[in-house]
Amino acid sequence: MIRRLGVSWPDRSLFRDSRDTLRLLAVSDVDDPALYEARNREELGRVDLILGCGDLEPDYLAFLGDAFPVPLLYVRGNHDFGAAWEAGSDRAPEAVGPGCVHGCEGLRVAGLPWPGGRAEDRGLDAIAAWRQAAKVVLAARRSGDGPLVVISHVPPRGIGDDESDHYHTGFSAYRRLAEHLRPPLWLHGHTPLAAQVPWHTRVGPTTFVNVTGAVLVELTPPIDSSATATGTITPTETAVSGPSDRPLALVSPDRGRLMRLSPLGRGPRSRARARYPSP
Ligand SMILES: [Fe+2]
Repeated sequence: MIRRLGVSWPDRSLFRDSRDTLRLLAVSDVDDPALYEARNREELGRVDLILGCGDLEPDYLAFLGDAFPVPLLYVRGNHDFGAAWEAGSDRAPEAVGPGCVHGCEGLRVAGLPWPGGRAEDRGLDAIAAWRQAAKVVLAARRSGDGPLVVISHVPPRGIGDDESDHYHTGFSAYRRLAEHLRPPLWLHGHTPLAAQVPWHTRVGPTTFVNVTGAVLVELTPPIDSSATATGTITPTETAVSGPSDRPLALVSPDRGRLMRLSPLGRGPRSRARARYPSP
C-alpha cells in the first residue's frame, strides 16, 4: 500500500510555473508491489521526484527510474553492498554521497547514507555519523539558503527509531543535526514499520517520515497562502521557521568536539523555538 502524506512547504518559490504542489515518491527498505502495476502508478498521479532512503536492490531502483521518468535521488543503506550491488550498480543511478547536498526540482536534498564500511559485519558507526552531520552542515551552507529535505537511512535517535533494539537505534548526531538545520521534512528508513507507530511524526518544525515501503509526500504552499490548492492531499503540517541562529557545536560523545559552526542562512526566525525532547 502506498501511504500518502501532505506537508506544507515554507518556501513559496518552489511553487512556480503554475505548479501548485510538488509530489515526492519516497521509497526504502522493501519493494512496494503496488508500484509494479501500471494502473496503480496511473492512479498515483503525477510524481515529480523519487527519493530513496536505502536498503533497496539496484534492479528495483532501475525499475522505478524507468517507470517514472523523473529524477531519482537515493542513499545507500546497510544492506546495499555485496553481490547484488556489484552486479547491478550500473543499472541504478549514482547514490547521494555521505553528507552531500543536491539541488533537484527546486529542492535542496541532503543525503545521509549508512555511515559504515562495506564489510559484511557493518555495525553502527556513531563517529562516522557525526562526520556526516558536520559535512551536511557545511554543504548546506555552501549550497545557499532555503529549506532542506533530508534523506537518511538511519533515523535520528529517539525519532522514528527503535531504541529497544541496538541495531535499530537512531544516531544522536542526526538528532543534533535536525535541531540545527530544522528541515521541514526528514525521510528515513531502517526501522520496521511494526516497530514504530505512527509512521510519521512532527518534532519542532520537522516532519519525520519512516518511509519503509512507499510514501507519496505532497508538498504544498504554506497554509496561510492565499492560493487555494485543489485536488491535493490535505497538509497535516504547518509552515516552519528558518534555521537556528545559535552557533552549532557538533560534539561527539566519544571523541570530543569535532567542529563549531555558524548558523546556516538567514531565514526568518521563530520567536518561540520548537523544543526537541532529549534523545
Ligand atoms: Fe537498514
